[in-house]
This record gives sequence, structure tokens and C-alpha cells, in this order.
Amino acid sequence: MTVTTESDVAGTDDTATTHQVALSFEDGVTRFITCREDQTVADASYRQRINIPLDCRDGACGTCKSFCESGDYDGGTYIEDALSDDESEQGFALPCCMKPRSDLVLQIPATSDIAKTQAARFTGTVVELDRLSESTIRLGIRIENRGQLAFLPGQYVNLEIPGIDDGHGNPVTRSYSFANGPHEDRLIFLIKLTPGGAMSTYLTERATRGEPIAFTGPHGSFFLREADRPVLLLAGGTGLAPILSMLRKLDSDNSRRSVHLVYGVSSDVDLVVVDEIEWLAGRLPGFTWDHCVSDPASSAPNKGYVMSLIGPDHLNDGDVAIYLCGPPPMVESVRQHVAEAGIEPTGFYYEKFALAAQPAADVDVGSDAGSVIDTEVVRDEAPEDDPAMTALADDTGVPDRTAALLLVPDARAIAGQETLPSTELDAWSGTRPAATEDSRARIAGQLIWPHGSGAPTVDVDAETIQATVSQPGATARSIAGQEMFAASDITALTTHPAPTPTPPETPDRDASPAPTVIGSHGYQIGEEHPEITESDALFEARAALELGALELTFGRLSTQQLAGYRLLADATVPYVDGDRFVDSAEYTETNAAFHDYLFLLTGNDHLLEAYKALGVKGRMSEVLRNATWCHPLCAQDHVDIVTAFTSGDHDAARELIVAHADRSKQTMRRAMSDEIGSRRPRFVTPGRFTGKVVVITGAAQGIGEQTARRISAEGGQVVLADRSELVDDVARELAGTGTGAVPAVADLETFGGAEAVVRRAIDSFGRVDVLINNVGGAINFKPFTEFTDEQIRAEIDRSLMTTLFTCRAALPSMVRSGRGVIVNVSSAATRGIHRIPYSAAKGAVNALTASLALEYADEGIRVVATAPGGTDAPPRRISRGTPEPRSDTEARWYQAHIDQTLSSSTMHRYGTLDEQAAAICFLASDEASYITGTVLPVAGGDQG
Ligand code: FES
Repeated sequence: MTVTTESDVAGTDDTATTHQVALSFEDGVTRFITCREDQTVADASYRQRINIPLDCRDGACGTCKSFCESGDYDGGTYIEDALSDDESEQGFALPCCMKPRSDLVLQIPATSDIAKTQAARFTGTVVELDRLSESTIRLGIRIENRGQLAFLPGQYVNLEIPGIDDGHGNPVTRSYSFANGPHEDRLIFLIKLTPGGAMSTYLTERATRGEPIAFTGPHGSFFLREADRPVLLLAGGTGLAPILSMLRKLDSDNSRRSVHLVYGVSSDVDLVVVDEIEWLAGRLPGFTWDHCVSDPASSAPNKGYVMSLIGPDHLNDGDVAIYLCGPPPMVESVRQHVAEAGIEPTGFYYEKFALAAQPAADVDVGSDAGSVIDTEVVRDEAPEDDPAMTALADDTGVPDRTAALLLVPDARAIAGQETLPSTELDAWSGTRPAATEDSRARIAGQLIWPHGSGAPTVDVDAETIQATVSQPGATARSIAGQEMFAASDITALTTHPAPTPTPPETPDRDASPAPTVIGSHGYQIGEEHPEITESDALFEARAALELGALELTFGRLSTQQLAGYRLLADATVPYVDGDRFVDSAEYTETNAAFHDYLFLLTGNDHLLEAYKALGVKGRMSEVLRNATWCHPLCAQDHVDIVTAFTSGDHDAARELIVAHADRSKQTMRRAMSDEIGSRRPRFVTPGRFTGKVVVITGAAQGIGEQTARRISAEGGQVVLADRSELVDDVARELAGTGTGAVPAVADLETFGGAEAVVRRAIDSFGRVDVLINNVGGAINFKPFTEFTDEQIRAEIDRSLMTTLFTCRAALPSMVRSGRGVIVNVSSAATRGIHRIPYSAAKGAVNALTASLALEYADEGIRVVATAPGGTDAPPRRISRGTPEPRSDTEARWYQAHIDQTLSSSTMHRYGTLDEQAAAICFLASDEASYITGTVLPVAGGDQG
């Protein structure tokens, strides 16, 4: 709880002095951090994601020794071995011990990327080239340092195609998912062949066993999460590869988990590795599978799309994790299919790939309509003189990028999804019936062909794969010869005029956490969870990702990385004492830095992005804002997790991560429950405001919000005015429980704003019975002689003009009604220090109260005021604009006004929001019908 000193001033700012620290690295890069005077430079640095070299973190090893070029600091406590007196004299210091007293410039003995791990590059040997069918090759690679390659089942690598480069000496790469399990020695990839494709050409014309081949990785956040719940696996075409990897991992774990696979392909030749799936089915007791071929001429027993093979049993009433690797239409189709079944799966994880695009390289590296996670790195746009693009230009001369998208033969029916307009089907094998006009417009709820462009003349046999639907400048890559494009690009598809009615929309899942990771090449990996009213799913998702990160990092972290990890774990500890938060905001901050770090250490940007996309920190900040209770082991868990990493206890680390998620959930639940309880007014007089229309200004927080809650609970219809849109949330909540509540976002420092609020009340409820002028609050805290002209005017505008304007705006309607009450919220600070302009403004409010009461008594209008003293309130959500103290002197000025407020109170304490709201509500009600022109001090005996 934060102490404030004025009626409507909620919260103080952290007054700990902070300094800028410039970290100058050996490679010439300088990074800036802010560091509080009570914080070590290393601590601040790590929290701001800059990992300077560390080892002991305790002034014992000297690893972090740096040269301080300028600035004043407290060097802290350390031993001579770490830093000698001579070195200290010369200006060397230990960032793990030093605390700044001024801005600093430090020379860090490392390069700027020292702490950044990156996906590693591996060189191996081609050991298998197995033509599985006329359309698919299995590529096997062996690497010598296999132990250094950890990956999760579902992840991919970027394979460098031997023998070619992009014309600038850079390797040409394609992305492929591992089809082998993480525990298996040999690396297996499934590659679908596309004539002319760079990888396809290499594999069919040049590749030989025994030759070297390189790749970087692993990448991606599409991987099998550890859990016991049933799994539904959906694979489109060679999207089977990551699914195979998952199955092989389950097999190595002797899993009895219930798993069902639906495998969909376009034609019989695309149906591969059936014997391997059968083999797995014989080993995994919980595993069943089915497949379908969309080609009607197929000999497969199931012709059609994967959705037709998803039954209610597979969805298990929503208690199922769905893993899907396929093109966007398949993802959307499945999502829609599941939604139409009324099911919200516990987890929906997907890796989308789309159609291939033209590489704008100087050399022709071809294109691969290849296999799963067969990625073509796509440059932004095709060359202007690209003949294929020119052929696709519409009447305006603008290349029809959507048409170009559909050139890849495999795009016709990807996992059973028809994707070409009927006019294009002539070039197909002849076995497929023409798509209807309707079907071409709505495939899986997605528009796939622009209206008005007509049937473009395209050569479907052309091997030059065109630029994409991506906006110019966007990047994309292709997987399975299909470009993977970002969400924004998918949206771009739907912006074309539709030839048929608007397709059905995908169910709105906005309320669900649906992090989507746009890969470095523009494809999408995402996960969705059911809408949550509590935050449990968020922490379950975090734990699932963290367990993946654990597998990638465990046993691979350097001493320095472990030291950094421990530093961040330790940093959370001071903010929890037993089961109480010492500072929930700082805990949230340090907790986020701790969890981020493990993802950072994976060197896998996608994993870090997937974690960040969950928005855990934001959710925690919101929920824990006023929290006091924390599970007593939460902070200790962090330390114990690092200990498990350090000691090599893999099982303990896993168990702790899972247990920590559970303890985090408990902390959040308790905070949410306490928050709901704390919002209820402590005192309520039922029905006291029934039939009354009450306007409350400054209602988004603090005394205004609490008064609004009480009046609403007592039957009043409330109009909540504030300059912040946060007032919408309060209004929405009260509208759900009270007799009527509307927000009015307005700037009351203008007369127009005041008029708008009154108009809003009259439009909504027909009149204004009570006006509570709560808005105001001191901005600056310092001796009067320090105020500038501008600052004085700002205080008057904030704390006097708002009340003057709103009284002026509301009185005509009250006069017409022949009744009304105005309650002005003044302040005991009419006699106070270090906010003189504010004191003067509130003194004027008192004068306004007395004079208006006199002038409008005969109109049946009462005008009264309260004069609050210091009031406890939750931290402010809307800043009042008070600048951070820039010096000790300014901090002392600020503190002086708090001390004066406390000493002026006979009760020597601050009031509560309920105590302030009680006085306001009394004066506003008919219980005070014989009181007018009075200012009631509510300040523990301070008369103001
Ligand atoms: S002395 Fe700073 S890390 Fe050891």
C-alpha cells in the first residue's frame, strides 16, 4: 500500500535515485542501463537483458573486473584476490559489487554479443538418400558432435544446399523439420521434390552419400509439450516429419499416452513412411492413426480432408492437445472444425506453411515445392523484370501477388484443401473435379482468390515461384514449396474483394492467449489455449515452454551463464518475505527477467518470442498490482531451479519448473480473489441513492472510483468521468452489477470537456442529481519559490478549473430541475507545505463551495465539500505527472509534505478510501439535506 497525501492523489513514485550506466564493450558497442543506487551494476545489467561476464557474483573471482572511465560509485565488499587496492586506485571495479552514486561509464572486458548464444552451425555427412516415392526423398545426415545438438521433437534446422550460393557467397538454405527423435543418432528429413527446386535439384542430380552438408539450428517453438493429456496429431503432406519426431520421442519414453494421428495428403504418391507409422503403432499402446487422400482417384480407403477423420473421441471434450503441421488453410479449417464441434482444446499448437515465393537472388537457386518444413528463403519481392511476375500483372500493371501465390502444383490440394480456382484445374492431372465458384472463394474460411483480377493467365508448370501475398518489404519463406507468411499477410489476402459472399469467419478467439511466433523467415508457429478467466493456462503454457527450454540447455550452460542465471534468481528473493510480497512490482520485474533468461540461453529466438507472446509479465503486473500474498516458495523456487541446473539434477529441475508453475497459479488466484474483495465498499447503505443520477469526476481510480462503487452499490446511476480510458473498465464493471453506469472520457481542464460530461449524463439518464467534483491533485512538491509560472498554472488548471468548469456546466440542468447537490472534494492541504499553488486552488474550491451554496440555495441546490487529508490508496494507474525527484534535495522536498501531513493529523495516520467515500456519500445524500456551504475535514483531526 502506498501512502498519498491528498484526496485524489494515489500513490507515490519510487524515489530511489537511479543513474545511467554506459557499458562500453570491446567491440565498440555501448549499451546503456539504468541502475539504482541500491543495486549492483551487474544486477541492473542482467535485469535489462545485458549479460556482462560473471562468475562468483560475490567479489571473489574477479571475472567481472571492469574499468570505470568516469563516475562515482560505491565499490562494495570484495576480496583482494578479485580486485587489488592498486587496481581499485587505477579505476578498476567489480560490477557484481559496485553500486553507482552518479552516472558511470564502464569498460566491459568482453564483446557485446558475449552472452548471446545463437543457434549453432553443424557440419555432417549425407548418409542416406532414399527415394520414398516419386515425390519424396528421405535424407539422412550424421554429425560427429551429435551430443552437442539438442532439439525438441517438432523443431527444424536450416539446411545449406551444397554447391550453390546466393551470388554473394552466402549459403542457400531450406528449412526442414527433424523426422527422427531427439535421442536418435541419425538425423532424418523428409523432402518433397519439386522440379527445378534448388534442394530438389541437388538431391536428385548431385547429392551422393558421404559428402558434407551443413545446417544451423535447432529452431522453432512447435514441439511436443510434456503432459499426460490425450494428443491429436494432424499432418498435412510432408508436415508429417515433425509429427514423426514427436511419435519417436513418445516411443523412447515408453509413453502410454493416448495419441491419434490423422495424416492427409494430396495424392497417393505423397503417402510415404506408412510402414514406419505402422511400426510405431505396434510399439505405442495408446497410438492409433488414420489417413486420407484428397485425390478422388486415390486407391486409399478414405478420400477427402483431414477434418472428415476427426471424430468426437479424438477431441475428448476438449481435454486434448492438438498439434498440427500444415498449410494455413488446413490450420484454419481444423480450427473452424473444432470450434463448430463446440470444443475448446486445452492446447492447439500449429506450424503453418504456405506457398512458395520467388527468391530475388541474382542467381537462380530454383524453388522447392518440397517437403515439410522445406523452406525457401524468400526475399522481399521478385525482380521488377521478372517475366513471370510480368505475366501476372493485372490491368493496372501491378503484379497479382495472390495469383502468383498459387503457382505451386502442390498448392492445389494441400492436405485435402482445395486451393486453386476452377479455371486453374485444367492443368491438373485430370482426376480432380473442378472446384466450384464458391469453393474457390471460401477455403477453410479463407478467401483465396481476388475478385476482379479475372482468371489470370498463369503457367502452372512454371518453376519460377512468384512473390507472395506479403506486403512489399515483408519477408517470407516457403515450406513444402509453400510460402510461410505472417499473420498480417494472411489478412492481406482477405482484403481483396470477394467474388462470392464473405466467407465465414474464424471463431473469435481474441480472449484466449494465442501467441503466434512469426519465424525469422516469416512463417508462423503458434499456440492457443482456452479462454481463461483465471490465469492458470498462462502458467501451464509457460511451464510447457520452459520444460522445452530446459531440454535444450540442461548440461550445456557455461559457468558464467549459470552465474547469471543465479544472479537473476537471487534478485527475486528480496521481494518476498515469507508469504508476503515486499514489493510485488519488483517481484514481477525480476521474475520476468529470470524466466526470460532461460529462453535466451536456448539461443532459439522463436522460443523466447513464444514465451514473450504469452504475456505473462503483463498479466502478472496487472493482477499482482495490489497483491500482498505470495506463495512462500515462489522466489525460492528460482534459486532451487538454478541449483538443480548447477548440480546436474535434471529431474529436480523438471519437477521444480512444474511445481513453480503451480505455485505461481496459486499466487495469481489469491491476488485476483483479494482484488475482487478489496473493490467492495466497506460500508454500504442500501438504496440510499436509488433513483439518483450521480456524476463523479476523476472516477478511474482512488477516491473517485471508491465513491462511484459505493454510490452504485447504493442504487445510484453513475456517470464516471475521467481523462483516462481506464474509466471504461470501472464503468463496465459497475454496469454489470449496479443500476446503470456510463463512462465519460473528457478533459475537464477545458469547459468543453465539462460540458461533454454533463451532456453524457443527460443523454444517458436524463438529468444530473448529484455532481461530485473529485478530480484534481497536486502535481509538484517543492518550495513555492521553485515553481515556474507554467507549473503554477498547471496546478490551478488541475485542481480549481476542473471544479469551476464542471459546476458551471452542471448547474443549468440542476436549476431547471429545481434541485441538486454538488460535493466538491477539496483538501486539508489548504494549510500545507510544498504545494502552495495546489493549496491555493483548494482554498478557492472552499470559497466556491460557500459562495455557490449561498447563490443557489433558493434554487434547491446544496453545495458542500470534504477536505481529505492523506489517504492510503493502491499505486496509481494514471500518472498525475509528478516528475521523479532528480536529487536528494527534491526527494526531501517530497518527503517533507508527507511528514507535514502526518504531523497535522491528530490521529497521526492516513485515511482510507472507504473513509473518504463515506463522508462524500453522506454529504451527497438526502441524509445531509440540511447541510450546505460547509467544508467537512476528513483528515484525522487536521482542520486544513
Ligand atoms: S568478482 Fe564479480 S563475478 Fe566474481
